[in-house]
Parts: sequence; structure tokens; C-alpha cells
Amino acid sequence: MPFPKPSPEVGPSLWTAAPDRPAAPDLQVNWTLPATYRFHLYEEWFHLFTQGFRQGSAFDVGNVDIKINHSRRVLALARRLTGSLPLPPELQEVTHLAALFHDIGRFPQYARYQTFYDQKSVNHGLQGVRTLKAHGVLAALPAAAQKLVLAAVGLHNRRTLPTGLAPVARYVTGIIRDADKLDIFAVMLAHFHPDVPPNKVVNLGLTVHPTNYTPAILTAVRQRHMVNYLDMVWVNDFKLLLCSWLYDLNIPVSRAIVRERGYVEQLFAYLPAAPEFISLRQQVARDLAAA
Ligand SMILES: [Fe+2]
Repeated sequence: MPFPKPSPEVGPSLWTAAPDRPAAPDLQVNWTLPATYRFHLYEEWFHLFTQGFRQGSAFDVGNVDIKINHSRRVLALARRLTGSLPLPPELQEVTHLAALFHDIGRFPQYARYQTFYDQKSVNHGLQGVRTLKAHGVLAALPAAAQKLVLAAVGLHNRRTLPTGLAPVARYVTGIIRDADKLDIFAVMLAHFHPDVPPNKVVNLGLTVHPTNYTPAILTAVRQRHMVNYLDMVWVNDFKLLLCSWLYDLNIPVSRAIVRERGYVEQLFAYLPAAPEFISLRQQVARDLAAA
């Protein structure tokens, strides 16, 4: 079973019966990739497409580069996750394509709005689907493979997945969501470092303050619930949102990567040293160790 069983040591909403939790479906597919399929051709398209957005000020180019590099690292993480799972080769390839393209909507989003904040611009997952379709990027793939890539791209940034989603699409999307979160964690930890000047695009325009946070967000994380982007006011809220993501990881290897990279220790080093954060840190560390 590639997905974790409920741990008796943690609350009911943790890694258990959340409605968007991928079940382990029958992973056999009844289609094949064309003989001409080569992953590197899609990487080349990604490179050419994204290079066209590296324009404007050094700040703008830097923000575009953040997403180019993020996409490549998410692909590397997705490879590591698929390597730990019993996926047929076709689904591995589809998952890697979805990883490479998951944020393709970021580039037209930034070109048009100069922000990565979806609520103030466009849903970048849905924009990604439109972009891939408009450029016919997936046209050489079987329809079933196209659907899986588009589902993962279009749904990777949803707070929860739709209940009617087909099991294989849910599974592939779950892998992309994990790989994405694992890399965003590293990106944000780098930006939270006190020596790094705050970047309002990366911080989503939230207010920097050493100790302020939104109590309802802390409560949500304590209850192991996902935090809503719309509730965030302070940069500390964003750190708490990242913390809530640890409870939305699907693949056991994802939690191993969190432990191996020391994300929890680093994240809490950037949160106030108040008792409520110390106890939350203990809760999260305990939960991850039990997973
Ligand atoms: Fe994204």
C-alpha cells in the first residue's frame, strides 16, 4: 500500500479519512505512449516557452527564474516520489510531465499581473491548463494521458480535490501536490531567512512583523486542518500555512524528505519563541515521527 495507514497517536483528521486523500487505485492503464515519445522534447518546449518570459526589470526576471527553477526541482522531487511507488512506466512519465508543467500558468500570470497571488490575478492551475491547450503541448499523447496531466496541473493548487475525481488522476495529482509543497517549503524557508530582504511577490504582499500572527490560523494548524490563503494577514501566518501543509502530504517518502531536510526545525526557528509555538512545534515533530 503506497499510502499511510492512520496512526493511533494522532488525531482523526491527520493522514486518515480526509475526503481528498488519494486511495491506492488500480494503477494499470490501458493505453501506451507513442513510439516517438521523448521526455526531453517536453523539457525543451518548457525551456523555450519560459525563456520568453524572462524580461522586464532584474526583479521581474528574478521572479520568473524562481518559478523556472521551482518547476525543475519539483520534477526532480516527483522523480524521487515516483521511484518509491509501484507505478507503471506510462504513469511515471505522465507524472513527470505534470510536475514539469504544474506551474506553467505562472508565466502568463506574472507577465500579465506581476504577481503570484492567485486571488488578486488568475488561478494559475487553470491558467496552466489553458496554456498547455493553447500551445498544443500535449497533442501527441493519448487522450487519457493528456487528461491526467491536465487534471494534475489544473488541480495541483486546490485546497482540496473534487470528490468525483477519478482514482488514477487523484493519485497522480497527489504526487504533484506533494512534490510542489516539498519545494515551496525550501523556497519559502530561504526567503524567511533574516538576512534576505523581504520580497513582496514571494511573501504574497503579507505584512512582515516579528511576533504578530492570526490566532485562528494557529488554531487551524493545531487541529491539523489546512489553512486558507485568504485568512492570512502576516508573514507569520504564511509560516503557519506551510506548517499545515505537512498534514496534507500523501506519500510516505514525502514525510521522510521533510524529516531529512529539517524543514520543521527551520520553520519554527523563524516563528516567535512564544509558548504556543513551542507546543505546536512539539505536536508537529511528534506527528511526523509517528508517520
Ligand atoms: Fe503552483
